[in-house]
Amino acid sequence: MSADTRATARFITFEGIDGSGKSTQIKRLAAHLTKAGHDVVVTREPGGSPGAEEIRALVLQGDPDRWSAETEILLFTAARRDHMERTILPALKAGKIVLCDRFADSTRMYQGLSRGDLRGVVDQLHSLMIKREPDLTLLIDMDPAVGLSRALSRQTVDERFEAFGEDLQTAMRQGFLDLSEEFADRFRIIDGARDVDAVAQDIATLVDAELA
Ligand code: ADP
Ligand code: TYD
Repeated sequence: MSADTRATARFITFEGIDGSGKSTQIKRLAAHLTKAGHDVVVTREPGGSPGAEEIRALVLQGDPDRWSAETEILLFTAARRDHMERTILPALKAGKIVLCDRFADSTRMYQGLSRGDLRGVVDQLHSLMIKREPDLTLLIDMDPAVGLSRALSRQTVDERFEAFGEDLQTAMRQGFLDLSEEFADRFRIIDGARDVDAVAQDIATLVDAELA
């Protein structure tokens, strides 16, 4: 591992409502950064390590009322802890750029807001078990109706939260925008309501500038 590569270690997360284009754009950014000579790891939450992928199936499949709100926070945090230990921290230590599809900001939103105000519990568990925030968070912002129709057209099995519908998506969109003000130093807002190439170009320019 050269000193140059080590110097570029960065933890970059993508956030936004379901269907906003995170997975699509993460692949595009990974290709762009790899072409520029960076060592890139693409990962996702919930999941990103074998144990956390098992927890993913528990939290995203089945009855929407399967878990209490508190149990759900514990499961997402357990998955994140495993993902940090086994995937994210080793990659950063090796000087890689880690691109992660969702991270703790999603828990602050979905578990912190959707079933009462549990943001304090989410933050307490985060500071106890995770501690680290991303270096940069790209929020892909867009109309919830468009995002939801894109997400539902995919028809995957991981649909527990998508099943909550457009009202939740609308609340999540506003919640993410509020979060971007709370953590203004690391958040950047991307307009996701454009074609894939235009969004990818914006993100590449922004990340290149951050890495420079
Ligand atoms: P997310 O990971 O945020 O849920 P995806 O990247 O999986 O979103 O995109 C959801 C769906 O919308 C996919 O079918 C994808 O091909 C499509 N999609 C992604 N970006 C765009 C875009 N800019 N314009 C139109 N469709 C898009
Ligand atoms: P994801 O696979 O990113 O779905 P999508 O591609 O549709 O955006 O995430 C799956 C679902 O998990 C998504 O509806 C949001 C939810 N989620 C939480 O509720 N809490 C969390 O901490 C994370 C990481 C995801």
